[in-house]
Amino acid sequence: MSTSGTSAGTKGGRARFGKALIDAATLARRVEQLGKQITADYEGREIVAVGILKGAALFYTDLVRQIRRPLIVDFLRAGSYGGRTSTSGDVRIVADDEAVEVAGRHVLIVEDIVDSGVTMQYLRKLFLAKGPASVATCTLLDKPTRRRIDVPLDYVGFSVADVFVVGYGMDHGERYRNLPYIAALDEVQKP
Ligand code: IMP
Ligand code: MG
Repeated sequence: MSTSGTSAGTKGGRARFGKALIDAATLARRVEQLGKQITADYEGREIVAVGILKGAALFYTDLVRQIRRPLIVDFLRAGSYGGRTSTSGDVRIVADDEAVEVAGRHVLIVEDIVDSGVTMQYLRKLFLAKGPASVATCTLLDKPTRRRIDVPLDYVGFSVADVFVVGYGMDHGERYRNLPYIAALDEVQKP
């Protein structure tokens, strides 16, 4: 293994794996703001924060550390893309049977990105059917021009244009999730 490589961070606005669309410092600032907003909104309440794997994993772990409320951690694995760059419209849930009990609790769904809205709508309905005290939705990114289903979003990090993005948890064919910033797929694929 070579040890000569440098970090995958942004250098002079130009990242090693492509130009950043949203750099690490901007992500950190916005995640802190979202955490403060959620902390204020949930005064006196305990949150069951459900991170949607795998895409929301990095955002989720940063976000929960900025929420100063009693909080239960849970994850759910959902997917509808399977290596494509747009939804199949058919959402799969993997391993829901060991999920934390949400009846009577305040559920906060944490997603990486809402595109057509199919996945978030499916998740909202899934949790609403379990008799929670409330269900709120939080997504790091929103692509409003791609929406097919008008799903309510309570917390949005950034609105982005209709470009396929990777990094900070988001992938294309399982790659690029480890980039510490968000880039357009076109950029990271440039030689
Ligand atoms: P939707 O069901 O069409 O709203 O798609 C939502 C899911 O698709 C997200 O949870 C992501 O995992 C994935 N997704 C949508 N757009 C992108 C993107 O630009 N990059 C990476 N994943 C995406
Ligand atoms: Mg996802």
